[in-house]
Amino acid sequence: MTQRVLRVQNIYKSFHVGENDVQILRGIDFDVSEGDFLVLFGPSGCGKSTLLHTILGLESPTSGAISYSDSVTFSKMGEDDRSDFRKRQIGMIYQQSNWIRSLSVLDNVAFPLTMLGESDRKASLLARQALGLVGMLQWEAYIPMELSSGQQQRVALARAVATDPNFIIADEPTGNLDFESGQELMHLLKFMNEKKGKTILMVTHDLEYIGFAKSAIRMCDGQIVGKYTEGDREALMHRIIGKRGVEIS
Ligand SMILES: Nc1ncnc2c1ncn2[C@@H]1O[C@H](COP(=O)(O)OP(=O)(O)O)[C@@H](O)[C@H]1O
Ligand SMILES: [Mg+2]
Repeated sequence: MTQRVLRVQNIYKSFHVGENDVQILRGIDFDVSEGDFLVLFGPSGCGKSTLLHTILGLESPTSGAISYSDSVTFSKMGEDDRSDFRKRQIGMIYQQSNWIRSLSVLDNVAFPLTMLGESDRKASLLARQALGLVGMLQWEAYIPMELSSGQQQRVALARAVATDPNFIIADEPTGNLDFESGQELMHLLKFMNEKKGKTILMVTHDLEYIGFAKSAIRMCDGQIVGKYTEGDREALMHRIIGKRGVEIS
């Protein structure tokens, strides 16, 4: 049995909109095992990003609990401890990378290491190693905005893994990429999962990426409507025919 490394327990989340409470997440419950590559998918607006923010401890759930271990339960921790845990244990990638525009590729990738107190020299060394893993070392002196979207996402992945976190959490990381760059990024994520032992949680509304995952969760309207493991992924993929992103059941 592989070890459970994240527990998402009966999460409810509502937002006040005007005078109303709008329920966004309605009883989300699942575990993540060490070494999993889990894809969360579902239509736009179903609550995927809200769920990721909750898992990252950036939003507090209305009820329910997020725990990474007995000693890391977000509701029992202060904001500083949650932030420290995130910096050390989770590499994040978003649809659009937030670059420090005045800094080079190398310095952007080194930045999270500097934040953790590494010396400039050590931070640069580790950042170069991370850039090497994603094949972007020759671009180290560029400014990120000079690169293509696909190259920028590879650098974003380098920045996410530079601190050697156990988790990679990605919210639609291929959302702005053409097909080829999207595939390249997915292969790199798979490499980080299989060869570097990262546990990956990735949100997408593109069903074609499920083939890269070990397990998948389908969301609709703030609820889980399907859980798939490696064994039944084939059955799921067979139902995905025709247009990109359209599932025919
Ligand atoms: N801070 C907020 N206040 C009010 N409504 C929100 C807030 N954040 C998200 N929502 C709403 O929650 C729903 C789910 O959003 P989101 O989690 O971003 O979905 P997804 O990532 O699946 O597209 C949307 O209807 C969105 O408008
Ligand atoms: Mg989203």
